[in-house]
Amino acid sequence: MTSSGNTATPPAELPVIDKKAEPLISIRNLTVHFDLGRERISERRETNGAWNKKEIDTAKFVKLALITIVLTLITLVVIVVTGRTVTSNLIALVIGVVVVVLIITHEMFGDRGARQTVKAVDGVSLDVFEGETLGLVGESGCGKSTLGRAILRLTGPTSGKVLFRNRDLAQLSKRQMREQRRHLQIIFQDPYASLNPRMTVGEIVREPLDTFRLAKGRKADERVQALMETVGLSKRFIKRYPHEFSGGQRQRIGIARALAVDPEFIVADEPISALDVSIQAQILNLLEKLQHEKKLTYLFISHDLRAVRHVASRVAVMYLGKIVEIADAKAIYDDPLMPYTKALISAVPVPDPTVEANRRRVVLEGDVPSPINPPKGCRFHTRCPYAIVACKEVVPPLVEIKPNHLAACIRISAEQPQIESVPSGQAPGLVAASGINS
Ligand SMILES: Nc1ncnc2c1ncn2[C@@H]1O[C@H](COP(=O)(O)OP(=O)(O)OP(=O)(O)O)[C@@H](O)[C@H]1O
Ligand code: SF4
Ligand SMILES: [Mg+2]
Repeated sequence: MTSSGNTATPPAELPVIDKKAEPLISIRNLTVHFDLGRERISERRETNGAWNKKEIDTAKFVKLALITIVLTLITLVVIVVTGRTVTSNLIALVIGVVVVVLIITHEMFGDRGARQTVKAVDGVSLDVFEGETLGLVGESGCGKSTLGRAILRLTGPTSGKVLFRNRDLAQLSKRQMREQRRHLQIIFQDPYASLNPRMTVGEIVREPLDTFRLAKGRKADERVQALMETVGLSKRFIKRYPHEFSGGQRQRIGIARALAVDPEFIVADEPISALDVSIQAQILNLLEKLQHEKKLTYLFISHDLRAVRHVASRVAVMYLGKIVEIADAKAIYDDPLMPYTKALISAVPVPDPTVEANRRRVVLEGDVPSPINPPKGCRFHTRCPYAIVACKEVVPPLVEIKPNHLAACIRISAEQPQIESVPSGQAPGLVAASGINS
């Protein structure tokens, strides 16, 4: 991660990862769905732009008024026809009660549509190896943060496994998980929002030491000072509050707090996106230095593909809750296989003006579909320039197309890895998919 600004230049040196070794983290079929409850039909109309809030309220009022008028008229007719007897009064009373019950139940339940579930992460499996930086990229809302948080169990998974050193974190009791959390930390995108404004920097960095009972008294003070120095902050700042620092310094405080417990694995969720470009490189360099010194393993989440190229040894590409391609960073940037990855990579500016002038950009049509109702089959088919009918039906499995290079596309295979060369209408990857989809 030798950085001189946030450029697209690949790093000179990245740790060599032994992929035959046991992974530090193994994720298997991890699914995180958020239940939003039942949709209110009126809200759906509202979000579709057909009606605004005032129109919905007026329509409700008119509807209730009409129901009341109709039922009052029926009651009057009953009274007129049967005469004012005890029976007619009783019938009128029953009708009145039915009207009130109908109106109340309609108001409570009548406006409800289908249950809504956000499929933020859907059946993700991947390994993270000790000492590596695995980059996780994809458009906004594709589930990157949810996946990172679910690995640390900051968000409860709906199903699936997260094995840390072969221990399934989902099977641990609260107390056991608390012990494990020491080894698994997170650095957030917005350093200011993640730091308690009422605590001094010293207290913020010291808090995890107290929580995990790692050091007390003078030992804790010394550890806090050492951590401040490790992240490049003077220990003179120890009594200052977060608002007295710049964005880059705040991110250093966040990193010091994460390091306090000597973690093995850190999820860095967009750690530089909120920082000035000039500061981004400094933070990337700091993360690299710490990785070497402390043998850290990172999941580096970012939508900035230039930054990911800079730091990551491998890259996983996510689309609408699924991993669609994963390979060494060089392969992802120089020889992407998935049409989606090709489009993402083609959008990364190249610093060489000659190359930049001749670069062909693949522009994706349309917006990312909603994760509440993702497209069937390949989730990318609504925007893929190579989609065929089968893409709408078959869920492409993530399979090894080249050594250590996995992609989820039915129109490529190990024999025909380049989608541009596959004859029109053919899907050589269907054989692999049929074994898994059947
Ligand atoms: N607590 C929640 N309740 C309901 N939906 C959620 C919740 N958290 C995330 N989502 C939804 O899950 C989907 C994935 O969100 P997530 O934050 O993981 O995406 P992301 O890839 O990190 O996006 P970004 O690049 O913008 O940070 C989004 O549609 C989001 O609205
Ligand atoms: S499976 Fe079909 S829709 Fe999906 S990426 Fe491949 S060609 Fe495109
Ligand atoms: Mg996010």
